[in-house]
Amino acid sequence: MLDGSTVPLEWAVWPARYMEAVMNRIRGLSRRGFVGGAATALGYLGLKPGADLWGATTSTRRFSAFGQQTYDYDSYAKLASNENPYGPTDVMMDAMNMAWKYSMRYGYPDGDIQEKIAESHGVEPENILLGAGSGEILRAMGLTYLEPRKKVVGVEPSYSSVYRHASGLKAEPLLLPLNEDYTQNIPAMIRATNRNRRDLGFVYLCNPNNPTGLAVPQNEVRQLLDGIPEDMPVLIDEAYHHFVQDPRYATAEPYVKEGRRVVIARTFSKIYGMAALRIGYALAPADMIREMRNYTTGSVNCLARWGASAALGDPDSETRVLDITTRLRNNTSTALQNMGYDVIPSETNFFMVHTGRPVREVQAAFREKGVLVGRPFPPMLDHLRVSIGTEEEMDRFMTAWKEIFPGMAATGNNG
Ligand SMILES: Cc1ncc(COP(=O)(O)O)c(C=O)c1O
Repeated sequence: MLDGSTVPLEWAVWPARYMEAVMNRIRGLSRRGFVGGAATALGYLGLKPGADLWGATTSTRRFSAFGQQTYDYDSYAKLASNENPYGPTDVMMDAMNMAWKYSMRYGYPDGDIQEKIAESHGVEPENILLGAGSGEILRAMGLTYLEPRKKVVGVEPSYSSVYRHASGLKAEPLLLPLNEDYTQNIPAMIRATNRNRRDLGFVYLCNPNNPTGLAVPQNEVRQLLDGIPEDMPVLIDEAYHHFVQDPRYATAEPYVKEGRRVVIARTFSKIYGMAALRIGYALAPADMIREMRNYTTGSVNCLARWGASAALGDPDSETRVLDITTRLRNNTSTALQNMGYDVIPSETNFFMVHTGRPVREVQAAFREKGVLVGRPFPPMLDHLRVSIGTEEEMDRFMTAWKEIFPGMAATGNNG
């Protein structure tokens, strides 16, 4: 790393004019608003003036484009990846714009993000580990607690990158089927954990589960933790925590506070609309955080830190995203049910509908119509996962649905 004493010669003789041009470029970027290569136009978010959750008057400032360049990607309704289509709020954008000025630094003020997250959970900063998305946390969990031939217990389908990563480490995912109603089979998880306790790296519980959208009730999380050895690490993935309204659900935070070997993974990608910016975190006992820290890279960028810090200070925006997402999810689910399709009741910003046709084929048909929908989640190969986009995107989804399933729409018969 460079410090003041080792500045290369050519840097020392850089003309002041050049430095000024660099600084102007950084200031210019910040004046035009944060865009990166990602948000090229309002169309990117499926937003039209008036459809911007954060206020039509400010949307142009927030997402001003590099010229008029657009990509095919921008034109699709993006209902495939459980994103938040509204993106960061104005408050978050302002914080991130300000943070550009640190983009050439290593150590810089970062909005005290770790302290703010800790405060939001009523824990100490030593209980928090930042990751470039919660994906990095899931990976750090594998790197810390798995090794060749160790096992990880979880259900299928679930967020499979945990299992894929385990396989990459030559560890072995022990995958249990869901119950008939698509809930997670907690007694089976307990049995599999106890039977394999000597070879088990950790237990994975995605709550609520992706792709089904179903939450595991609080009493079942307790049943799981009471039924397995106390020293068994458990990874509880709460990526969709903020969307859950089922009163039987609760975060696993109290288990961390009581010192249980529980790691909770959370993300700013979903309710806070920061998926491309990459920030998430682990909430866990301090000794587990210390073990996992060895496997993270400190790669959370400066804009993400400031954006996330601002997000935590703006709970009203969370409520607005929750409200509109819930309304659009319920409307779309009801419309499909009224046509005779089975929809799994979801607690998240996506839902699954039984199409009775192979998902690959259905996915391709939607793509032809400019709508991106979820991939196959074996073994639920004739269920389609649909993420909740903007109102306009959901309209496009319903129009495409009626064209792709015309007979069923007419008869209301789900076969
Ligand atoms: C259940 C679950 N966990 C973790 C992630 C990873 O999200 P990120 O790395 O963006 O925080 C996702 C992303 O879709 C998810 O669905």
